[in-house]
Amino acid sequence: MARPDAVIVCISQQHLNAARQRELAAAVSAATPLPTRLVRLEGSGPHLGEVLDALAAEGCRTILVQPLGLPFSQSLAAWLPGVLAHWREQRQGPPVRLLLGPDQAVGNEVIAAIVAAAIAAADVAEPIAEQRPSLGKPGWDKPPPFRHHLLVCTGPRCQFRGAPNLKLALAEALTASGLAGACLVATTGCLYPCNQGPLLAAYPRGEWYRLPDREAVARFVAGVVGRNEPVADLIVHRVAALDPIPHIPGEPT
Ligand code: FES
Repeated sequence: MARPDAVIVCISQQHLNAARQRELAAAVSAATPLPTRLVRLEGSGPHLGEVLDALAAEGCRTILVQPLGLPFSQSLAAWLPGVLAHWREQRQGPPVRLLLGPDQAVGNEVIAAIVAAAIAAADVAEPIAEQRPSLGKPGWDKPPPFRHHLLVCTGPRCQFRGAPNLKLALAEALTASGLAGACLVATTGCLYPCNQGPLLAAYPRGEWYRLPDREAVARFVAGVVGRNEPVADLIVHRVAALDPIPHIPGEPT
């Protein structure tokens, strides 16, 4: 039987605060004496390749990669074998055996156990009748003023290619240059040209940029955000110009 000497638990979760992530990592760690890591395939944090590199550098030679989700994303489940094979093939150094565990939530026992536990704990469930109704808050009526709408891809393939670092480097460069207020930055899922990642789309310029390192981010911020000029060598795609939008009667021109 294959005995792993480390376990990586992969989750797909765009929105997870640091405290909850630490709790999950602690729960994973408590489950086994083996070294463990919790990796988010989308969102932020060290990407799967970095974590595999780190464990391999610590001497781990058989690593079990275990997807965790209820259920785990079918798209990511289909993607994981290939990206793990990619990491293994391009790795230099002693060979590392990778094992990919099955989605443990596919069987209905886990779901049934959660539902049973929820019913048993119904007396501590939060009574919604005591909550104030709130679909919209005043700050959500309109966007803040901005000149550049930047869509940073944090999909799994850009994540693997360093998108968490892009997000962080962009935020730091915008703040340092005093240009943060000129941008509305949003993170997105896959935008399609994954092979060009890590990337962002900049509107209204309609230009998509590959920003692999801090130097590229600094040039993007100075050129696109600071001077409203393209940085040609970093562009991977331009949106085709639209025909002028016909004027709608009654709307300001
Ligand atoms: S994951 Fe970023 S473009 Fe596909």
